Amino acid sequence: MEEAARPGLSVEECVRRLKRYHYAFKRLHQIFTARITAEPIYELKMAFGLHAHYCAEHVTALRQRVGEMREPPLGLEQVPHEALEICFDEILGAPKTEELLMGVYEKALPALQAALQRHVVNTNPLADAPSIRLCRFALLEIGDMIEFGRGAVEKVVGPEKRSVFKPWLQLLDDCFAVAGGLHGAEKPAEKKLERQFSARPYQYDAVPKRDERFPDPYNMGVNAEVFLYDNKFPPEPKTLMMFYKRLREVDVPEMMASILTETPDQPWEYYRDLTRQLWDEARHAMMGEVGFVSLGIDWPEKVMINFTRSLGLITQLKSFERHAVLYFIEQGLMPKTGKRFEWEVGLASRNPLSALFQDYDWADEVLHARIGRDWYLKNFDEPKTAMHYGDQCWSRVLMHWGRWREEGLTEHRNWWPEVYRDACRHWGIQPDPDVLAFSTSYEQVRADLKTISASA
Ligand SMILES: [Fe+2]
Ligand SMILES: [Fe+2]
Repeated sequence: MEEAARPGLSVEECVRRLKRYHYAFKRLHQIFTARITAEPIYELKMAFGLHAHYCAEHVTALRQRVGEMREPPLGLEQVPHEALEICFDEILGAPKTEELLMGVYEKALPALQAALQRHVVNTNPLADAPSIRLCRFALLEIGDMIEFGRGAVEKVVGPEKRSVFKPWLQLLDDCFAVAGGLHGAEKPAEKKLERQFSARPYQYDAVPKRDERFPDPYNMGVNAEVFLYDNKFPPEPKTLMMFYKRLREVDVPEMMASILTETPDQPWEYYRDLTRQLWDEARHAMMGEVGFVSLGIDWPEKVMINFTRSLGLITQLKSFERHAVLYFIEQGLMPKTGKRFEWEVGLASRNPLSALFQDYDWADEVLHARIGRDWYLKNFDEPKTAMHYGDQCWSRVLMHWGRWREEGLTEHRNWWPEVYRDACRHWGIQPDPDVLAFSTSYEQVRADLKTISASA
């Protein structure tokens, strides 16, 4: 009674604050997404995918809540305070991973956390119960993100770096102070804010980068699809090829991040849906990783995960054309040779983990096909034209298999026999000579990507 009888925030003030949280989540979503492609550290790429998804979901919930309390126009696209804009511009433009991590996980997210905690305390728990529910749920995931960030900063940022970035971190603090806190409930400080990293407009780095666990990123020496669809090979070794195909999906978040970053002015639901898919694709990659680890295979050492597809799509096509290719691939995954086939191979292999992963991979793909219909297909009068356009775009992406070898970028080494041998040792069986002899690369197929790899 006592709590419920205590006056709290008016609707006006509540909405004003919610819009600030909304803005913060939206900018964080943008930052996480934009920094996936060129971030070399694999775990960070994956985490940025998850954290972008979290932020997108909270943006969606906050938009809905504001819509419950106010008539349109809701003003959700307005910048609530210039100092907040500077703060997030600065973090987006952070030149290196170190500054980025400190800005996001040590400044922005804790400020957002403090704002939401304060909302829960300040507002009337009965009158504003729906907002409190959103805040509490968001706090749960903000807590997870901050905890992850703490570990990441510890590993990535050396203590000597911290003093180098002190003035910049101070600038971020100043931004919040000038804005009266992220919530805007404090008296605004009077300070002059001078842009540093955002003095010049942000330039998206579209070239995918990988860390040292991807030592041979141009290697297209093992043709997973040829092996997978050949009936003469048994299902057990095919699970290895499926783990490889999954892990290779690191390239899908890289590529989808480029679509999201380079496609402005879409309805919010577009970004929300595509971000969910981006995170799913990151999960698929991690399923492949977990699969290899479960079989005792040292994947960074033995399995050559390439980035040739994201590199080709991003550098050779425009963002809408990339979306067209994605749609074309995902529609192709639905027929008999696609996800159902992979799941059946998983079942037949009696590797329960492979079957489980393929089961969920298939389920995710059904969602992705729906997202493709909602956001890509609507640009065409006929589904056939949309498919044809995606097909055409994909055919234009050239893979320079021979040239990369000539230039010394890769030898397209056949890494398959070694990985298969390691798995056989784990299974306690003798290698099958036919399986061991598999040596089809991606050279034999045509230069474009169309027939050579389909996983998304
Ligand atoms: Fe996928
Ligand atoms: Fe997908």
